[in-house]
Amino acid sequence: MFAKEVYVRRRKTLIEKMREAGQSGLVLFIGNAEAPAQYKDNCYKWRQDSSWLYYWGLDEPLMAAVLSIDSGEEILFADDVEIDDIIWMGPQPSVESKAQSVGVSRHRPYGELAGWLQERVKGRPVHFLPPSRYFNTLKLQQLLPGEKPSEALIKAVISMRLIKEDIEVEALDAACDLGYEMHSVARDSIQMGIVEQEIVGKMEAIALAKGWGVSFPTILTQHGETLHNHGHAAVVEPGKLMVIDAGVESNEHYASDFTRTYPTSGKFTQKQREIYQIVCDCNNYAFSLTKPGVTYREVHLATARKMLEGLSALGLVKGDLDEMVAKGIAGLFQPHGLGHNMGLDVHDMEDLGENLVGYDPDQTRAKQLGLGSLRMARCLVPGHVITDEPGIYFIPALIEKFKKEGLGYDFVNYTKLEQYYDFGGIRLEDDVLITPTGARRLGHHRLPITPEEVEAAMAK
Ligand code: GLY
Ligand code: MN
Repeated sequence: MFAKEVYVRRRKTLIEKMREAGQSGLVLFIGNAEAPAQYKDNCYKWRQDSSWLYYWGLDEPLMAAVLSIDSGEEILFADDVEIDDIIWMGPQPSVESKAQSVGVSRHRPYGELAGWLQERVKGRPVHFLPPSRYFNTLKLQQLLPGEKPSEALIKAVISMRLIKEDIEVEALDAACDLGYEMHSVARDSIQMGIVEQEIVGKMEAIALAKGWGVSFPTILTQHGETLHNHGHAAVVEPGKLMVIDAGVESNEHYASDFTRTYPTSGKFTQKQREIYQIVCDCNNYAFSLTKPGVTYREVHLATARKMLEGLSALGLVKGDLDEMVAKGIAGLFQPHGLGHNMGLDVHDMEDLGENLVGYDPDQTRAKQLGLGSLRMARCLVPGHVITDEPGIYFIPALIEKFKKEGLGYDFVNYTKLEQYYDFGGIRLEDDVLITPTGARRLGHHRLPITPEEVEAAMAK
């Protein structure tokens, strides 16, 4: 948790933004509740709602809070523990001291929230965010039947959380340092004959020992052409490419998200190296273009062009590069976007709406394969934290679909592409902060990324 002044300042700014947007009434925040896995006393691992963490800091279940846009009044709704709770959970600080720790002067029992709202709303607007958990969806239906999340509040929150404060950048650097450590263990654990799950266990131990855990379910697979492959049952075999896409969530709940791709044998084959080099060049190229004033949509498209240039040199595609970009040919090889926002969530704030988070008001999301999956397209400004994650995948079902639908025949060498049906996929991802003059990669070390660096690291 940060100092209480941080939360006081953020809530004050939020109220100012709501007033500037011509809004009045109340803002209601609902923190998460425990989520039972099988029965009420055996729950999934506790994780607080991220917007709650951002404004109210308190990392505990069953809390809510109300802010008055009109008067600035703030009330925390939470319960003091009773003897039963103390028996099972030990003594807990009082709600009074918790409220004080985040600069809130008034508090009421959680159970009074519904009655309080009934008494005080009286036709005034109540602004709330889209709930990220089903429990809160139900809670909001009970508290404010028929009401919809407030777009004004969503926009105000996004405008704040998108621009990371210095203390957040520090927290993100620390999460990335842990991510670096976790990935290094993963790379050093690759050996013939072990089950992928064993590597996952070793690497996730770092996330648990030094942070809150992983920031999303680890992707570790020799079938990287399946973009989010969460199966870890395969035995490590020689000659394969292993995609490891994983991140740590720090104890402060800030995420990291790195991807590296390793030749399981320690050395790339010629064919693997050629494709790997293109992805590596694309990662570096995207970073070189990333700076304030440029849209990430432009960076995505320029990187797609670079990728097609590399694939063209290998004879996998041919033709005018700009035409290929316009026709979406890059999507056949990279059916995802170049990156996303990152912060308290690995895909930051996507619970608030992907387009509101990742697109400026004058941008519309494309429908094209690849570009259509771009989660962050905005014009970059200092304080944005984004991922740079190009990839090339050979997805036989997708290639066959393109062929069947007669797509890309002017550009794609389908005959040559058949030689890549068992290739797999490659993705290389770094986390990037936009600075006033350009950009910098987060974390104090960069994971080996050139083919030479990767082979050297694996030889150790
Ligand atoms: N690293 C997983 C993702 O970005 O979707
Ligand atoms: Mn990512």
